[in-house]
Amino acid sequence: MIARLGAPVRVTSPAKINLHLAVGDLREDGYHDLVTVFHAVDLMDELVVSPAAQHSVRTPGVAGVPAGARNLAGMAARLLAKRTGQGGPVAIEITKRIPVAGGMAGGSADAAAALVGCAALWGLPPGRDALTEIAAELGSDVPFSLAGGTAVGTGRGERLVPVLSRATLHWVLAMAADGLSTPQVFGELDRLRAAGDPPRVGAVEPMLAALATGDTAAVAAALANDLQAAAFSLQPELRRTLRRGLEAGALGGVVSGSGPTVALLCTDPEAAAQVAAEMAGSGTCRAVKVATGPVPGARVVVR
Ligand code: C5P
Repeated sequence: MIARLGAPVRVTSPAKINLHLAVGDLREDGYHDLVTVFHAVDLMDELVVSPAAQHSVRTPGVAGVPAGARNLAGMAARLLAKRTGQGGPVAIEITKRIPVAGGMAGGSADAAAALVGCAALWGLPPGRDALTEIAAELGSDVPFSLAGGTAVGTGRGERLVPVLSRATLHWVLAMAADGLSTPQVFGELDRLRAAGDPPRVGAVEPMLAALATGDTAAVAAALANDLQAAAFSLQPELRRTLRRGLEAGALGGVVSGSGPTVALLCTDPEAAAQVAAEMAGSGTCRAVKVATGPVPGARVVVR
C-alpha cells in the first residue's frame, strides 16, 4: 500500500538500552568518545505528523518534554526541510511511552520518527544515508533510533556498525521517579575520574561474542556501563533498584545509558513477568515495564 501524499503519517520509534557502554575521556568539543552496543526494544513512542499552518509539537498528558522550538522532533522537521529545501510546517503529536530523561533515548526516538514521518509526508525519496547524516546533527543517539536492531556505536555514538545477534532479549525496565540530565551524568563521571580514577568497563568483545551465540546468560554477565557509577552517585537509591531486580530473579542488570532507568535482563517472558510483578511491589521504582529486543528503528506504520 502506498501512503497518500499529504495525509497524516504515523511512525513508531523504539527505546534503546546500552548493553555495553565504554566512555573515553572528555574531548575538546565537550563530547566523550564512546564504544557502545546499542539494542532497540519494543517500548515505542508513536508520532503522527500532519501538514499544518505552522510548526507545533504536542505530547498530551506527559510532563517534562521540551516544548516548541526546543523539542527535538520539531527541530528534526525543520532541519530536514532546510537540508532538502522541501516540505512545509507540520503538526507533530507524540504518544510518549519511553520515559522522559530516562537514559533510553526517548527524545532521540522522537527526532528519528519525525525525520521518517516528514520524509514520507513530503514524498522525499527514502535516502536512509542522508537521513542518518541529519540524524547525527540532531543528537548522538538519533542515528541509532533510525537504524534500530543491535549495533556498535563509536565516535559520539553516531557512527554505527550492525551487530550479529542471535539473542532475543527479555527485559524488565524499572523507571525512576526523577529523570537524570545526560550532560550532568557525563560531568559526574568526569568528576569521579578526576577524583580517583574508578574502574572502567572492559573490552566490548565478550558482549559481541555472547550476542553472536545467542547466549542470554553470557549477555547478562557482560552487561557493563561506565556511566552507571555516575548515575549511582547522583541517585544512590538506584543501587537498591538494581539489587532488588537481581534478588527477584533477573539474570543481570545495568543502568540504561545515562540512567536512571534500570534494565533487568531475564531468561524468558515468564521470568520477565515474574520479575516485573516483584519490582512493581518493591517500592524501589516509580513504574515497571516489560520489553523485548531487538526491534527495527523508526518506521512508518501502514494500517
Ligand atoms: O548528542 P547529544 O546532544 O544527545 O548529547 C547530549 C550531551 O551529552 C552532550 O552535550 C554531552 O554533554 C553529553 N555527551 C557526551 N559524550 C557523548 C554523547 C553525549 O559527553 N558521546
